[in-house]
Amino acid sequence: MKVEDIKNVLIAGSGTMGQQIGFQCALYDCNVVLYDIKKEMLEKALERLKRIASRMTREGRITDEQATAALSRIRTTTEMAEAAKDADIVSESVPEDPDLKGKVFGQLNALCPEWTIFTTNTSTLRPSMFAQATGRPEKFLAYHFHDIRMTNVVDVMPHPGTAPEYVTLVKEFAEKTGLAPIVLHKESTGYVFNYMFSGLFENALTLASRDIASVEDIDRAWMGIMRTMIGPFGLMDGVGLDTVWHIQNFWAKKTGDKQKIINADFVKKYVSRGELGQKTQKGFYEYPKPSFMSADFLKGIK
Ligand SMILES: NC(=O)c1ccc[n+]([C@@H]2O[C@H](COP(=O)([O-])OP(=O)(O)OC[C@H]3O[C@@H](n4cnc5c(N)ncnc54)[C@H](O)[C@@H]3O)[C@@H](O)[C@H]2O)c1
Repeated sequence: MKVEDIKNVLIAGSGTMGQQIGFQCALYDCNVVLYDIKKEMLEKALERLKRIASRMTREGRITDEQATAALSRIRTTTEMAEAAKDADIVSESVPEDPDLKGKVFGQLNALCPEWTIFTTNTSTLRPSMFAQATGRPEKFLAYHFHDIRMTNVVDVMPHPGTAPEYVTLVKEFAEKTGLAPIVLHKESTGYVFNYMFSGLFENALTLASRDIASVEDIDRAWMGIMRTMIGPFGLMDGVGLDTVWHIQNFWAKKTGDKQKIINADFVKKYVSRGELGQKTQKGFYEYPKPSFMSADFLKGIK
């Protein structure tokens, strides 16, 4: 298989990340099918895709014509067989649970052509945790996105059983679709950036869950000293607090670490109230105008 042969992209799980990845691929001429188990997620996805397109157009990153053409290349379905039949590459973005991811890939393996490349967008899991369950471990690797509205940097990470030609193919595919891949030499939890960054989230949650400082002040400290537009809690709202909880909870259970359990419970309180961050307009902050974006949030900081 050559990179030119990768035309049909199957997005498995069409929430926050699946939508963004689908849009990016469609922007670069791929035919994209968004697959999800929930019909209402696909309806929401179509609305959000229009918002992503109009934001990029407004920011001058793409033209109206490019936006319209990209949207016309995206279709949606809840039928896995329909989505799988002609897929050249799968990008999986179902919730952060290795058993679920393994199960979805196992089902896809039975329905996709034998040439289809399988990639996971997992944030913190190692692909080897569910490589065997995919049924095609040699064609399986992690292809991980950050928020495409903010950056085009992606990670390409093999597990020990990935055939090297698939690492090269996915790297070339990333470049072909306007992205800047960082290729890892070996499997590592959290890739490059997230490995550094998860420590920040973890420590910010520890400070807040122990009530050492408020969410706002923790962000204020980070933003004021690092000169950034957003702090760790604002960023977690962008990720989605359900996803943040999944990650915290998974590692809390796996390690039994008391503070990790407290941190996961702290996030769970928001999730139980349906406050999932930007996607529900409420999380640690309220949207569309979170207080950290207001002029006086960093008042007095020079
Ligand atoms: N949110 C982020 O900033 C971010 C960034 C990078 C990677 N990730 C990773 O991407 C993955 C998805 O995260 P998200 O934030 O997009 O989650 P999300 O909750 O927004 O979306 C998950 C989607 O998967 C669907 N789904 C659940 N079970 C399914 C199944 N069996 N088959 C098909 N679809 C199914 C859900 O209906 C939902 O639409 C996770 O592994 C996460 O760690 C997230």
